[in-house]
Parts: sequence; structure tokens; C-alpha cells
Amino acid sequence: MISAGSEFNFRDSSQDYILKSYIDILGLLLSRDVAIEIINFTKKFGNFTAVKNLNLNIYDKEIFGLLGPNGSGKSTTLLTIATVYKPTEGDIRVYGKSVVRESDEVRRYVGIAFQEPKAMWIDKPIEILTWHARVVGYGLFDARRVVREIMERLDLWEYRNKMFSELSGGSRKKVEIAKILIQRPRVAIFDEPTAQLDVIAKHNVWRAIKELSQEGSTVIVATNEMYEAEVLSQRIGIIYKGELRGLGTPSELKDKIPGGDIIEAEIEGVINENVSRILIEKLEAYRIDVNNGKLRIYVNKGEEKIVPVLNILSNSGIKVKMINMKEPSLDDVFMYFTGARLGD
Ligand SMILES: Nc1ncnc2c1ncn2[C@@H]1O[C@H](COP(=O)(O)OP(=O)(O)O)[C@@H](O)[C@H]1O
Ligand SMILES: [Mg+2]
Repeated sequence: MISAGSEFNFRDSSQDYILKSYIDILGLLLSRDVAIEIINFTKKFGNFTAVKNLNLNIYDKEIFGLLGPNGSGKSTTLLTIATVYKPTEGDIRVYGKSVVRESDEVRRYVGIAFQEPKAMWIDKPIEILTWHARVVGYGLFDARRVVREIMERLDLWEYRNKMFSELSGGSRKKVEIAKILIQRPRVAIFDEPTAQLDVIAKHNVWRAIKELSQEGSTVIVATNEMYEAEVLSQRIGIIYKGELRGLGTPSELKDKIPGGDIIEAEIEGVINENVSRILIEKLEAYRIDVNNGKLRIYVNKGEEKIVPVLNILSNSGIKVKMINMKEPSLDDVFMYFTGARLGD
């Protein structure tokens, strides 16, 4: 727990003491428990730097989306949290335990569904998962029950006795995801969980991940899909070329694009210089343009500015036939923070 103002000394006057106690309590209310602290984390493969000086906190019980195109360093970061790789520099602490010095403890907290599922190719999904359930502590009876429940949920039950090698890429991925759903680790990591899945399977997996989070797991999902990041995550970190470029809730990220919200109004009347100046000043607008009776105003926090727009226009004798607001998409957000498209 990190709390603001948690230090005081006894030489303070009693008033200061009370004030500081209030600040302390406020700090506790505002701060959130940190599950994973990534501190100056760098990972190099030979001379190549895959992740460069990453600093990031992931909060307890949140779903955190790590968003970036292929080659950004997502898997490298996740594999280091899961103690598969060691940091070249820096450290990662999982519930206070260092991946460098206390990797055994860290491993007890973390479960990871790998991007590329690996299993014994000769095994059947039901055997792989029952074995996994036993390893993570279920008795035989409960293991069978939980494995069936999760397999049915992911539409895997009918494939239970196929060989892993005969499964489609999507079904292999589901087996990989099933392991984590069975395990319910304190930190559940999903590396591109739905990359090869159809729409129905995607929704099943998203629902399962959300439920896992509601039941108390801290969840990290790596993805290169905007939509997946947005539907799943409370917060998103945008990673590009091994560096963190943006961090926040989806709406915070959208609000960081200057003039990213566009208020669009169909009007009757003329926007003269005076009206235009009032609009820009009152709304703190970045830009205004008028075209064919359509007024566009580029602002931040557009949702708070629709009523002021209506007031300014009606005071200027301009009739508004229709008004709406467009938020930037997460695609726009990604472009803004990286200067690249996800396909790059
Ligand atoms: N074991 C490795 N050896 C050498 N280079 C690697 C290795 N793993 C990843 N890389 C390189 O590091 C960069 C980041 O990879 P990765 O973490 O897998 O990105 P992402 O998961 O975002 O697609 C890529 O350029 C990749 O080629
Ligand atoms: Mg990857």
C-alpha cells in the first residue's frame, strides 16, 4: 500500500498532526493497492533492446490491457513477470516479491496463458487439463468437475479426447486459456488470448476473463486489438518499440488527444468572426470549421460542452437543427501516442 503523506513527526503541533492524519486517510482512500511494480525494466536479447526502461504499476484486481503491435515487447514483459525471462536491468515485483531474487514466490502468484500454446503433442486436452488442475491443488474429484465446467464453457468439451496435435490453433489456444481459468491465480496473464478465435469464442473468453477478475484475480491482457483492449480493460498501457507511450483508462487516453472530441452541428445562420471567437474562447476549442451549414468544433471533454455550444449559438441568433459529438476512437488514440497504425 502506497499512501500519500504517511510520514509525520511528533514535533508537529497537534493541529498539524490532525491535518496530516486527514491527509493520510485521504491518501489511503485515493491510492490503490499495487499488485505489480515494474521498475526500470529493460530486456535485451544480445544487442537488441526488446523493452526499454519500463516503469509501470498494475493495480490489485484490475484488468490491465497491454496494447501494442507485434514486436512491441508485450510478450517479453509478460514472460518476465512470469519469471520465464530475467530482466537485463531493473526489477519487477509481484505482491512485493522480486522476479530477480524471489522467483519461486512470484511463480506461486502468477499463471500465464502463453501466446504460443505448448503442450505434449501426444496428450489429450482432458488429460492435460486434469493434470494441470491436480498440480494447482485440486483433489481428483474436484479436478474432474472443474475441468469439465471450464471445458464446456469454452466449447472444448467435444474435443476432450482428441490429440492436442490434431486441434485447430484456436482450440489449442482455448486449452491454454482453460489452464488459467482452472488455476485462478492471484495474477492471471493472458498473452493475446483471442488472436485465433472466432467471434463467439472471443466473447466467451472475454466473459471468463471478466469473471476471473470479479472473483479477485489481477489480470493482464496483451493484445494488438483496440477493441479487445477497450472492452476488457479498466486501464490500458500503450507499448510501442519497447517503450510505454501512453497510460490510462480508455476515456482518459481519449481526452489526452488535443481537440480529439468533435462537436458537430447542423446550423441555419452565419458564424461570423465574433461568434467564432466566442466559441473558441468559451469552449477552449482547438479549431472550428464551417462547411455547407455544418459546424465542427474540435475540443476536449466535448460531453461537457454541448450545452454551452447551444447557448452561444442561440444567443447569436443561429438555429441548430441537429447536434452530436464524436469521440476519438482507440485507433486515433494509438495513432496519437505512437505516430503509427497498428498494422505497421
Ligand atoms: N528470445 C528472443 N530472442 C531474440 N529476440 C527476441 C526474443 N524474443 C523476442 N525478441 C524480439 O523482441 C521484440 C519484442 O518481441 P515480443 O516481446 O515478442 O513482442 P510482442 O509480444 O509485443 O509482439 C521483437 O523484435 C522480437 O523479435
Ligand atoms: Mg507477443
